[in-house]
Amino acid sequence: MTDTPAPIIPDPVPDHPLLKGRKEIGRGESTIVVEADTVDGQERVYKILSSPTDYAYYTADDRPTGRHFPIVFADHGPAGRSSRGYPFYIVEVERLYPLPGTGDAAEVATKISTSYFDACMMWRNLAQDMGRIALHHLAVTPMGWADTVQESLKALETFSSEYGALPDLIKADNLMMRKDGTLVFSDPVFME
Ligand SMILES: Nc1ncnc2c1ncn2[C@@H]1O[C@H](COP(=O)(O)OP(=O)(O)O)[C@@H](O)[C@H]1O
Ligand SMILES: [Mg+2]
Repeated sequence: MTDTPAPIIPDPVPDHPLLKGRKEIGRGESTIVVEADTVDGQERVYKILSSPTDYAYYTADDRPTGRHFPIVFADHGPAGRSSRGYPFYIVEVERLYPLPGTGDAAEVATKISTSYFDACMMWRNLAQDMGRIALHHLAVTPMGWADTVQESLKALETFSSEYGALPDLIKADNLMMRKDGTLVFSDPVFME
C-alpha cells in the first residue's frame, strides 16, 4: 500500500541459455515472466526474480505449500544482476492465469483483497507493521472462505514474519488461478 505505484522493472530479459528466444508474458515491479516448455501437458513459465523475498517465497525449504500456492518445478539459480541491485534468479513455475471478472476464485480473491484493505485501514496507525497485523487479522478471523484458504493465509503470515516480508494482497494481479479455477497466491509478499 503505497501512494505512488511502483514502476515496472525496465531490464531486458537476462542473457541466459534457458531464456533465449522465450516469449515474455508478464512483468511487474521486480519480476519478468517468460513462457517455458509444456511438460506432460503442464504449462510452465520461468519467473525471473529480482527480489530476495520473492526468491525465498518460491524456493525456501520452508516456503508455504499446498492447494493455493504456486507449484515450483525447478530453481535454475542466478542469471546476472538486475537494475534493482540484486541478482536475478530463474525459477520454473506452473503457468497461472489472470482471474476473470466473475466466478468462485475471483469472488474469494476480491474478498481477500477488500478484507485485507479494510484491516489495513483499521491498523494504519501501526505504519510499518500494518500489513502484517492486517494479514494476521485475516488469518485468525473466520470469514466464510474454505479451510484451505484460511490455512494458506496462516502460512503466508508465518512466511511473512519469518522472512521480514510484507503482504501484497491488494493488487489484483498478485492473485491468479489455475486453469481448473483454483485460486493461487502468485505474488503475495514484497520486501520492506
Ligand atoms: N506463474 C505465472 N504464470 C503466468 N503469468 C504470471 C505468473 N506469475 C506472474 N505472472 C504475470 O507476470 C506479472 C508479474 O509477476 P509478479 O509475480 O506479480 O511480479 P512482481 O513481483 O514484479 O509484481 C503478473 O502480474 C502476471 O501477469
Ligand atoms: Mg506482482
